[in-house]
This record gives sequence, structure tokens and C-alpha cells, in this order.
Amino acid sequence: MKRAKLIALIIFIAVIILACVVTGVIVAIRNARKPYPHLIFEPQPPDTESTLIWYNSSDASGTSYWINRLDQFLKPYSNPHESKTNIVECNRGRPPKADSNLVCDVKIYDWSFCIHDQAYHFNSFRAGPCIYLTIDKNPEWTPDYYNSSTIPDIIPDYLKDFIIYNEIRLGTDSDTLKVLWVSCAGENPTDMENIGPVVYSPMFGFDGAYFPVVNKEEYLRPLVSVFFERPKRGVLINIECKAWAKNIKHEEGEGIVHFELMVD
Ligand SMILES: *[C@@H]1O[C@H](CO)[C@@H](O)[C@H](O)[C@H]1NC(C)=O
Ligand SMILES: *[C@@H]1O[C@H](CO)[C@@H](O)[C@H](O)[C@H]1NC(C)=O
Repeated sequence: MKRAKLIALIIFIAVIILACVVTGVIVAIRNARKPYPHLIFEPQPPDTESTLIWYNSSDASGTSYWINRLDQFLKPYSNPHESKTNIVECNRGRPPKADSNLVCDVKIYDWSFCIHDQAYHFNSFRAGPCIYLTIDKNPEWTPDYYNSSTIPDIIPDYLKDFIIYNEIRLGTDSDTLKVLWVSCAGENPTDMENIGPVVYSPMFGFDGAYFPVVNKEEYLRPLVSVFFERPKRGVLINIECKAWAKNIKHEEGEGIVHFELMVD
């Protein structure tokens, strides 16, 4: 009898330990795979450890690296997409049906500020450069969109105004509000002064039509071009870009990318 009790106790303890281990493993896997979008900027510097975009706008041999890098990055978006028939034009905020093999087109040739023909403004004396923002292709993730009552106080005013204005004009369900918003700003007070006006194209974020990100070869990651209209020359400017949705936690480092700009 005593022996049977002991065995029962041992089995009981073993089961508890096993349950703890299994729970721990499940939690660890969940955390490790917790999807959120990584913001990525292009052109990336030649040194992979660096996040500094540094060039002299009147030295063509130096700016060619950045221009070529953007040319390469934008190649998959060039029109027409050869024989790929599953790339279609999507309406604002409307992804293709999940069971279709369609993906949404991304058009860059009519983005007047940030195109190859303008050297992405890397050769302009006062204006530029243009950088591009995109997201990584991995996570199957969909933004939880903000509306006027859930919008955080710290979101930039122009985004707040844009969301409220569109909600009043077109209603809370409007597809114009299904956007993963992005913003770029100087990090410190001096950076905020030096960065100058920032122009986003084709809009203030990534259209909801591109979500969820799918692992299809033809899937084109959405783009936002960011044109620095008149950043101060000859100083280093710390810049932080953020993606905004309810399910992105900036305080945990999600949806933020940092780089520095220095134009001689
Ligand atoms: C930028 O390049 C031009 C032409 O090569 C040169 O004259 C000028 O001194 C350079 N500026 C700086 C700050 O290096
Ligand atoms: C905003 O979204 C929340 C949930 O995300 C919802 O409960 C609320 O009704 C929405 N507000 C408006 C004005 O639609």
C-alpha cells in the first residue's frame, strides 16, 4: 500500500514537471514566432553594420553607389511584369481573396519625386535624397488599423488629422483608413530642426491591400518613398521611421527603423 502511494506520488510529480516543460516550450515558440513587421529602409549602406547614408551630392562617383542600389532594389517593381499574370491592380484597402493566387501590383513609375530619372535626388544640391521604406516578407501578419477613437496621442499630428478627416468624410469603415501608417522624424530636437520637410509617396503608409504578407514568389512588398525636401547639409541627422498600427508595440522595438543621414 505504501509502495503504491509512493509510485502514485512519483507519477504525479512527473506529470506536473512534464506539463511545465511542455507549457514552457509552447510559450517560447509562440514568443519566438510572434509576427510583427520589420521596417526596412533602402538604400542600405555598403557596410552591413552601418546605418549611415553619407554622400557628397556634387561627387557623382560617390552617389552612384546609392543610385545603383535603389535601381537594384526597385527592379522587381519595374513595369511591365514580363509574363506574370497574377499581379493585379488592387483597390485601396482590399487584398485579393485569400484562396486566389493573385497579388497586388506596386507602381513606382508615376511617383514623380523619387525615380531613377531624378537620380532619386542624390545629385541635387539642396534637395534629397529619397529613401524607400518597405517591410520584410516573412510574417503572416495583418495590421489592426487605428480609428479616431483608438489613435494614440503620440502619433504625428498630420496622421491624426488625416485619419479623423477621412473618418468624418467617408465613415469609419472607409478603405482609406486601412493603412499601415508610417512616419519619419528627427530623433533629437536638433535632428527635428535639421531634417526639414518630408514628403511621402504614394501615401502616408502601406495600403491595407498588401496585407497579409504572403509567401508567394510574386508577392511585391509595399513601398513608401520618403523624400527629404531640404535636409540641412554638412551635419549628421538621426532619423527614426515608425510604422503605426494597434498591434505594433514601439516600446518593444517593433516597427521602428533608424538611420543617419549626412550630405556634404
Ligand atoms: C564634394 O565634391 C566636390 C566635387 O568633387 C568637391 O569640390 C567638394 O569639396 C566636396 N565637398 C566636400 C564637403 O567634401
Ligand atoms: C474604433 O475601433 C474600436 C475597436 O478597434 C471599436 O470598438 C470602435 O467602435 C471604433 N470606433 C469607431 C468610431 O468606429
